[in-house]
Amino acid sequence: MDMLSTRQIRSLFLSYFKQHGHQIVKSSSLVPANDPTLLFVNAGMVQFKDVFLGAEKRDYQRAVSSQRCVRAGGKHNDLDQVGYTARHHTFFEMLGNFSFGDYFKTKAIELSWDFLTNELNLPEDKLLVTVFEEDDEAEQIWHEVIGLPMERILRIGAKDNFWQMGDTGPCGPCSEIFYDHGPKVPGGPPGSADEDGDRFIEIWNLVFMQFDRQADGELVPLPKPSVDTGMGLERIAAILQGKHSNYEIDLFQGLIKAAAQLTGCDDLSQPSLKVIADHIRTCAFLIADGVLPSNEGRGYVLRRIIRRAARHGHKLGAENLFFYQMVEPLIQQMGEDYPELIENRSLIEKRLKKEELQFAETLDTGMQEFNKVTAGLAPGEVVSGDLAFKLYDTFGFPLDLTEDLAREHNRSVDVVGFNRCMEAQKQRSRSNKQFNQQHQIPADLIQTLTPTRFSGYDRFEDSGEIMLMTNQAGQQCDFLSAGEQGWVVLNRTPFYAESGGQVGDTGWLVTDTGKARVHDTQKAAGQYHIHAIEITAGGLKQGLIVEAQVDKAHRQKVILNHSATHLLHKVLRAELGEHVQQKGSLVNAEKLRFDFSHDLALNPKQLRTIERLVNRAIRDNLPAQEQHMAYDEAIEYGAVALFGEKYGDHVRVMDFGGYSVELCGGTHVQATGDIGLFKIISEGAVASGIRRIEAITGEAALKWIEQQQQTIQAVSRLIKSKPENIVDQVKKLVHHNKDLQHTIQQIQQQQTGDIVSDVFNNTQTMGDINLLSHVFESADAAVLRDGIDGFKSKYTRGVVIFGLYEDEKVQLMVGVTKDLIKEYRAGDLVKTILSEIGGRGGGRPDFAQGGGQTDLNTFKTAIEKVVSQQFGGKHYKMT
Ligand code: ALA
Repeated sequence: MDMLSTRQIRSLFLSYFKQHGHQIVKSSSLVPANDPTLLFVNAGMVQFKDVFLGAEKRDYQRAVSSQRCVRAGGKHNDLDQVGYTARHHTFFEMLGNFSFGDYFKTKAIELSWDFLTNELNLPEDKLLVTVFEEDDEAEQIWHEVIGLPMERILRIGAKDNFWQMGDTGPCGPCSEIFYDHGPKVPGGPPGSADEDGDRFIEIWNLVFMQFDRQADGELVPLPKPSVDTGMGLERIAAILQGKHSNYEIDLFQGLIKAAAQLTGCDDLSQPSLKVIADHIRTCAFLIADGVLPSNEGRGYVLRRIIRRAARHGHKLGAENLFFYQMVEPLIQQMGEDYPELIENRSLIEKRLKKEELQFAETLDTGMQEFNKVTAGLAPGEVVSGDLAFKLYDTFGFPLDLTEDLAREHNRSVDVVGFNRCMEAQKQRSRSNKQFNQQHQIPADLIQTLTPTRFSGYDRFEDSGEIMLMTNQAGQQCDFLSAGEQGWVVLNRTPFYAESGGQVGDTGWLVTDTGKARVHDTQKAAGQYHIHAIEITAGGLKQGLIVEAQVDKAHRQKVILNHSATHLLHKVLRAELGEHVQQKGSLVNAEKLRFDFSHDLALNPKQLRTIERLVNRAIRDNLPAQEQHMAYDEAIEYGAVALFGEKYGDHVRVMDFGGYSVELCGGTHVQATGDIGLFKIISEGAVASGIRRIEAITGEAALKWIEQQQQTIQAVSRLIKSKPENIVDQVKKLVHHNKDLQHTIQQIQQQQTGDIVSDVFNNTQTMGDINLLSHVFESADAAVLRDGIDGFKSKYTRGVVIFGLYEDEKVQLMVGVTKDLIKEYRAGDLVKTILSEIGGRGGGRPDFAQGGGQTDLNTFKTAIEKVVSQQFGGKHYKMT
């Protein structure tokens, strides 16, 4: 039979079990339905959990599936190992057959054996199995029904052979089938001390579901004994394709090549390529299943994985956003079997691109910070929790990303210290929140008061009487003294309380005997203004008359943004259509944020037009006029009311010269000219069908433009060109740079080629072996590899060891001719030499490579030492 592709194996499995009476069931979403105990679906049985428990009935008793699974972030978390081992993935497919009270052990074992040996043609003598140590029955079936010799049936304890979904839920003893790669691969059988080696690989787990584990540990028998099995598709593909690592199968090779091309990496063995190939699968499927990057729960796991992929791309030298471009090659590999990838393609690409772009802004600076701080550490010294936290907090590096980075420098991270910083920050934000975001005046106290009279539409200062005061805990009090925080209600105040998107005022409450800073003003029951205060001097007392002073500069910035919001709303409806409705608004001193219903992203031209029209309305200097009228009358008058908003019978109408007319209770400029300048700084989607525009006004807009201009000037000075020519000039420079790089590479290859042929003259004979070792400085690695091939074709019994040293970084490549690989394995030589300097590597018996970090002399000495030991040259010195 020709070699089976991964796709063929998947479909063979499904059709085999279909022929044996199983219903083919589609893979479920990665997000478990109604199961809060689980972060992501991590096994084929998850979608059948309730069927096993008897809580759900289906019209079939046998099922088969290829289930997409994610093991990241939750109980089963393989994120850290991905890229560095042959078989870890965050995303994989689990092939499984299921019996819900239909067949049990005998049939399950027979089916699996028949499939492996007759359908996939795996040689019987390469397979061995484990059974749960108390499960005599399973052992007997394997021995008597299948005919497996007793020495290939191993009894194993509950740790590996009693499978359970989680702390609670369906579980039972299991029997695992292993493939033996033969004695040439190191590793021991299951249950032995070196079972983690690569010789014996678990391929299929047959679980005999019998119990429902309760929270107290009790095992309650299931209504009917059932079967759940799981076989990793990528693993079985690797075995059938004769590959050692899952990453060498057809599906992954397609992804790895694409990743290499996109990141400009020409060494396909780079672990980072595997990381990217693994991560694109997880991320694309998670987004297709409705998970979006965020700062908590599933969304944060997704964000961590995207950022980790971006970091590895950066490490490979990717200059552009590359990760979203992996969606296309992924669709080529998996789209036909998973149409959800194709259906959600543009969503996946857009989300990944946005997330990568956002992270790109801080990735570089974060890396610089990491390198700067760790450069000062002693070898092996841990990365402090403070640094890890700073990278997290300021540059958006998830902890596992920093750990991954640290590992590349042979360091670990002080996770306890990191958690301590994190906890401290949470504490801080909790206390800020409590103080600022909600008022602490109990409803029953407030209702005894007459509503606050707001006098702040036309004044910034007013006097008012303290009607009610509470302390930080929300208890009524008569007196607050310096340093204390609390809440105050006045009978009359110029402080605007947060509403309609406009933030609350800040300022001061002043008396002869005390002063308080007002951090925020909130509204209660629609009619009481509550000032969040902190006493800065003296004290405040119930019943006192205070001078309430609004922070005028703050309020003025806010009102520019608020009036500009009205103009923007008007222009959007005029330009895009009357379907535009306000869906959310935030107006503070820094900016305005306006959410509105509209399906498509606005293109740059539309944004420019909108910005121009708002600025024109500003220059028209439309007078602001406030009117009070009956609601119906206002609508008649043409005022825009917000959909879904509750209004009283009497409303306030804000009218800017008849151009923009809206119902609004906020504070505004006197004429639109006060706004000065309006500048859009971002446009994007918030939810499906809802766009968001952020903009700035007045002084802030001017500053923003100045900064842009300064950047342009700085660039033109650097490249010595007039500002109007910089685009052309930069294009030229980029081209020129590429040409130079190309030339350098050619020169280097030429030089390396010359040096390599010179070096060949230094081949020494050690017994009957021709041995050549040499360390090059700044050479072209590809040419060195060619050199190794050249050497190997020249000698029948030869060993060649090439080192490459550059800036404290070393690479090692070893070639061994065919006739010698029984005695010397290239992989072993690489490992032994690199273990001297704490580096890592491996490869085939005739060629292997690896790398590490050390200085030139230590590197040479390590090679000389190992050559002396292994080839009998007492004090071998290399040329
Ligand atoms: N549910 C079993 C597993 O995940 C088959 O290994």
